[in-house]
Amino acid sequence: MNSRANVSVWNSAEQLAQSAAETMSTFMRWAIEERKNCSIALAGGETPRRVYQVLATDPHRSLIDWDCVHLFFGDERMVPPEDPASNYGMVHQELLSRVPVPADHIHRIHGEHSAMDAAMEYEGELVKFFGGAMPRFDLITLGVGEDGHTASLFPHTAAVSEQTKRVVGYFVPQLNSWRVTLTLPVLLNARVILFLAAGTRKAEIVGRIQSAVTPSADLPASMVRPHDGTVQWMLDVEAASLISSSKGPWACPP
Ligand code: 6PG
Repeated sequence: MNSRANVSVWNSAEQLAQSAAETMSTFMRWAIEERKNCSIALAGGETPRRVYQVLATDPHRSLIDWDCVHLFFGDERMVPPEDPASNYGMVHQELLSRVPVPADHIHRIHGEHSAMDAAMEYEGELVKFFGGAMPRFDLITLGVGEDGHTASLFPHTAAVSEQTKRVVGYFVPQLNSWRVTLTLPVLLNARVILFLAAGTRKAEIVGRIQSAVTPSADLPASMVRPHDGTVQWMLDVEAASLISSSKGPWACPP
């Protein structure tokens, strides 16, 4: 394993998944020890799928007090839960169907509704759980797209500059489809952000993000720098292959 202040690199996607599940489990157990509950918001897409499978198996499955876990989503596609594209559907298949999270602790985005309605409903869920303050999740997992999007905050969209709402539902021109997503104010208020990226497809964008001196709306993932929290990028060697060495040597040798 190679790591620097907030970037760790693993020799394979499987080692990345095993370590990311371990990291999730550790942060979740710390939150439960400290506050008797743990709020997490999970990313969709393919990269985290294996992470969630590992988290749903021992030792993690039996180490986590799932009764204390409240599970939210970072974003959702506007499809019903049984649709293969549904983020909730993937998380249910790989994690929720295998761990004893109480049903009323699962706060999904209703992809079967319109984006505007689903966003309003989800905003209500967040207010119900976090109160009127900006939600402060214990842990948010995020992926990154090849265009630098994260959650469903896509470059050059109004969603990226939303400063007051917790959730937006909007038409994403790049996808020609609607999405619902947590906004940056929520991501920036998290205790821990875990970015997960694997494969050569992500190398160019990860290299650009890691060398971005200042956050840029062209690269929404580069803007996720919590005010009072930590960001951990967990990569495999392929996704990390274009991170310029000028950012200094890895913190520890392989
Ligand atoms: C989504 C995700 C999105 C995803 C990235 C990376 O709904 O698609 O929330 O932000 O994390 O696009 O996706 P992959 O892991 O499939 O590359």
